[in-house]
Amino acid sequence: MELINNQYLIQNIPVQKIAQSYGTPLYIYNSDKIVNQYHRLCNAFAPLNIEVKYACKALTNISILKLLHQQGAGIDAVSIQELKLALHAGVPPEKILFTPNCVDFEEVQQAISLGVHINIDSISILEQFGQKYGSKVPCCIRINPHILAGGNANISTGHIDSKFGISILQMRHMLRLIESLQIKVIGIHVHTGSDILDLEAFLRGAEVVFEVAEHFKQLEFLDFGSGFKVSYRQGDIATDVEALGKRFVPIFQDFCKRYGRQLALWFEPGKFLVSEAGYLLVQGNVVKTTPATVFVGVNSGMNHLLRPMLYDAHHEIFNLSNPSGTKRIYNIVGYICETDTLGADRQLADVREGHILCIKNAGAYGFSMTSNYNSRLRPAEVLVHEGKAHLIRKREQFEDLLRHQVEFEF
Ligand SMILES: Cc1ncc(COP(=O)(O)O)c(C=O)c1O
Repeated sequence: MELINNQYLIQNIPVQKIAQSYGTPLYIYNSDKIVNQYHRLCNAFAPLNIEVKYACKALTNISILKLLHQQGAGIDAVSIQELKLALHAGVPPEKILFTPNCVDFEEVQQAISLGVHINIDSISILEQFGQKYGSKVPCCIRINPHILAGGNANISTGHIDSKFGISILQMRHMLRLIESLQIKVIGIHVHTGSDILDLEAFLRGAEVVFEVAEHFKQLEFLDFGSGFKVSYRQGDIATDVEALGKRFVPIFQDFCKRYGRQLALWFEPGKFLVSEAGYLLVQGNVVKTTPATVFVGVNSGMNHLLRPMLYDAHHEIFNLSNPSGTKRIYNIVGYICETDTLGADRQLADVREGHILCIKNAGAYGFSMTSNYNSRLRPAEVLVHEGKAHLIRKREQFEDLLRHQVEFEF
């Protein structure tokens, strides 16, 4: 979003106009940003055979899946429903990786019948998979390397207490099963959930993956998951993907030489592709001065953006309606009957009731974590593409709250 002549614009469209046309609360996505991020990542690792599997849990709107598929991306799906959404969006099964956690084997079988790549993340599923399919269906193995390279322990998934992946300490057990049941392993997957801020830490982690990979002779790809950090507040360090690519490409190439085959490199970014492209527009309903602070109560809350409450995540907020107003300190809170603070002690240009506030970095884990808590309705979603705003999800209506209820007749 750019500020030009005191007006915020996305692809030259005044954002205020989009808010007027579609109402608030409203999610808006800028397709240019998504497309640029996708190509940035591909270019950073260009000499390699890189495949980007968009972790669609970040934002599952079909139009976003189509947009990324059109650019060449595959999909990382964590549930059979995400997988079906990806197929619905036209992504071919061979471009989809199914990475579920703690699912019934029945769900894995369904995914196999749909022809996608399967990522196995427990000894139990590996055993059932081997017994049923042997070498007939190739698979990928999700390893837990027990690396916690900084970042937020709530979102890290590779540490010793994590439920994700097969522990690297269970290597012997895993190899026994693979050999006895003749399982064909074509990929190794690691997603530590740690932000890649320190390139050295990432490269050390990569060495662990290479060591694991040496045990498997039929590999076709190595999947390094995600960890691409974007900036959520001013001064935040983001992953420098270009610098990472420069360091990582020769190391990966060396490994492939040692391994004796050119492997594909897979990544599964979510945030990196869609976080900064998304904004949540809300309206200031009430400006309330208390002895302690000035609250702006908005027509949204944790039901529309859970990250601040779930992860203590910081999202920048600004006043879209009054770009040049005098800065004042506010607590921006939701209308939910919980303490749903979207931002505390924030400097915003003078807020009046009815002003539209814009919450940044709302593209990833924004809409996809929405709920109907307090029987509130989910917002609409708009995609700005090629200089035009397109509605890509209708605002929920009261009838949606009743849709699946079965009324008992007393
Ligand atoms: C297996 C896996 N891959 C990729 C991702 C995407 O992570 P991010 O949105 O941080 O890029 C996640 C996030 O939870 C994940 O669990």
